[in-house]
Amino acid sequence: MTAFRVRCCLGAVVLSAAALADFGDPLPGLSAGDAQRFEVGKTEFTAVEAVDEGLGPVFNEASCVSCHLGPGAAVGGTNQRLETRFGRTGSDGTFDPLAGLGGSLLQDHAIANFLPEVVPPEATVIASRRTTPLFGLGLVDATPDNTFLAIALIQAIFNPSTAGRPSIVTDPVTHKPALGKFGWKAQVPSLFVFSGDAYLNEMGSPTRSSRTRAARRGTAPCLRATLRRA
Ligand code: HEC
Repeated sequence: MTAFRVRCCLGAVVLSAAALADFGDPLPGLSAGDAQRFEVGKTEFTAVEAVDEGLGPVFNEASCVSCHLGPGAAVGGTNQRLETRFGRTGSDGTFDPLAGLGGSLLQDHAIANFLPEVVPPEATVIASRRTTPLFGLGLVDATPDNTFLAIALIQAIFNPSTAGRPSIVTDPVTHKPALGKFGWKAQVPSLFVFSGDAYLNEMGSPTRSSRTRAARRGTAPCLRATLRRA
């Protein structure tokens, strides 16, 4: 009974510490190592990239925090920055992201001697996407795939009409099937992969992941198009 009371007490302390934590704060109760990793990650997230670090030639903002900021000064949220996606729908209804013309994500900034992209006249679909807050996503990343699969299974049995459907994707790092957890269509399996994509797509910086290398090859025609326009 005493052990139970102690556990309850500890639980209450952790809960009240959590209640004191504000947006953008680290999870209360981190080990010294994790707290240090949090600070290192935050420094990287707020760092303003320069051209010699890989920024550009076209990009959207020079740091993650330029979009993921707020409420107030909370790092990792959203300042409501919109970005533009474009593409074209074929007569059979299929979507063409116009990758050869820099789609589907528009890069609206450019470094010196380059021009920002503009939506090409070939586009028939133009959509704005609002920056989403990232609070708590480390916990989603750390939750095993099987937990989500089990939840989906239980939903399919008890609430089939509203059950979530797991999105199974290929992890570009391991080349193995994985559960998609991030992005609008749950098309990205981990924060590691999403962050690599963000460095490439929002800032133009290449990373070592195979997916981003492939994506960078995909941007070559778009850069040619940009240069033509310059
Ligand atoms: C120009 C604005 C902008 C910049 C700069 C930016 N992001 Fe984002 N971010 C967005 C938008 C808009 C979305 C939502 C769009 C989507 O999911 O396709 C998003 C979504 C995300 C998500 C997925 C959230 C979810 O719930 O699935 C992660 C993770 C993320 N960003 C990390 C980063 C990192 C890391 C950087 C810096 C390398 C970064 N972002 C830079 C605008 C930005």
